[in-house]
Amino acid sequence: MVTLTAFDPPADETAAVLDEVGALVAELVTGAAERKVLGHDRGEALAARLLATRPGATPRELGSVLDELREVLATGVDNAAPGEFAYIPGSGLLTSALGELIASVANRYTGLAGFTPAAVALEQSVLRWLTELFDLPERAQAVLLAGGSAANLSALVAAREKHAGGRADLATVYVGQHAHASVRKAARIAGIPAEQIRVCGSTDGARIDPEAVRIAIKQDESDGFVPIAVVGAAGTTNAGAVDPLGDLAGIAHDAGIWFHVDAAYGGFFQLTERGRTRLAGIELADSITLDPHKSLFLPFGTGALLVRDRDDLVRAFGEEADYLRDHEASGSDDLDRLPDFSSLTPELTRAWRGLRLWLPLQLHGVDAYRDALDRTLDLTVHAREVLEADPNVEVVGTSDLSILTFRVPGGDARQDELLAAVHTDGRVHLSSTVIDGRVVIRLATLSHRTTPATVGLALELIRAAAAR
Ligand SMILES: Cc1ncc(COP(=O)(O)O)c(C=O)c1O
Repeated sequence: MVTLTAFDPPADETAAVLDEVGALVAELVTGAAERKVLGHDRGEALAARLLATRPGATPRELGSVLDELREVLATGVDNAAPGEFAYIPGSGLLTSALGELIASVANRYTGLAGFTPAAVALEQSVLRWLTELFDLPERAQAVLLAGGSAANLSALVAAREKHAGGRADLATVYVGQHAHASVRKAARIAGIPAEQIRVCGSTDGARIDPEAVRIAIKQDESDGFVPIAVVGAAGTTNAGAVDPLGDLAGIAHDAGIWFHVDAAYGGFFQLTERGRTRLAGIELADSITLDPHKSLFLPFGTGALLVRDRDDLVRAFGEEADYLRDHEASGSDDLDRLPDFSSLTPELTRAWRGLRLWLPLQLHGVDAYRDALDRTLDLTVHAREVLEADPNVEVVGTSDLSILTFRVPGGDARQDELLAAVHTDGRVHLSSTVIDGRVVIRLATLSHRTTPATVGLALELIRAAAAR
């Protein structure tokens, strides 16, 4: 029984708190492999009860608080379970959460490098690893943000500042029809009128048609618009398709504008040999969005933006303030200087996000990630072979990475029926999308907890439902 007596509790209380919280965390980690994704109580009654509560004036006993959290965690969709194949699975690693705990308790300020240079250096070391992974030049800089949406937004703001100056009202951007919605949202937040977001078609139903982009840019130039950026996808959310990145880079380069690659889902497949081949051309980008909370299995809240030239971030996000006069700013001309993240992102005070990424890489090693992502690609190839051999299933399109799309004969309602039938089991969660005007079902394999047995189970349930 622990009830806290102070904000900074004495040693025995601190140890007791960590023990009790540690027990809950251990339950979450060790029980994960056995958990179902679906089929839990949705928790509506609990939600209504919690909504009506307010913090009390006096401390509550820790055990009862943790039991309340256990109740919450027993409800709803458990997207961290191994059978999550819907949307883009996010699993969450203990080692990253521990890094986050240490960073939060230490609460060092890392927005300006001068406060704790070693903390910033530790983050910068892993950011350098990212820019090197994509063969970006020494002037490149990565920053950690809340997620892929925030990274896409920062990229388009940097592109706007470089290529449109103050004329966002004239700016145009070029995206594929399968670009993630966050790219269009980013363009709008960046002040680009919605009707000037050019959604370019595709030749094969999955990847952007570079010729359509080239023609649209030419047309806009002659109509007096200011083209600022071409956006390619390194793994579309719909189908995991990789746009022709080298061709898009050439078009953006010829037009003298920014080339951004949204690799939020697919970027870390660069660690694998097959992924590197499929993402060829990504190294030509002016900026790349990555989402460690997707393909590095980190807990939600960690995205990354890689920018070819650090100065482009400074132009977009650098500001000076009288109350920061005691701090010596790091110059963009000196690449050996540690970065001031507050001059490179929208944030001034920021979480020390680097530890979330650094600790898992230290404790598991890069090879563990490479192997896990390779396994994910293998599992997708296997799933494709099994479904292609099934006369009741029609596999749709190609799968460049780890998302497989398929249908069963019949209309859209039949696809919804199949989803519902698979979901009654509770151990497997799929989702659907629309490609070429037809509903298709997606099997997105990305969780570090998904094993060959989980994929086997998913295929068994899909085939059984398709045969009905
Ligand atoms: C390709 C792609 N881009 C961007 C995003 C947005 O990322 P976030 O959800 O981390 O904001 C997603 C999310 O699924 C995505 O799949």
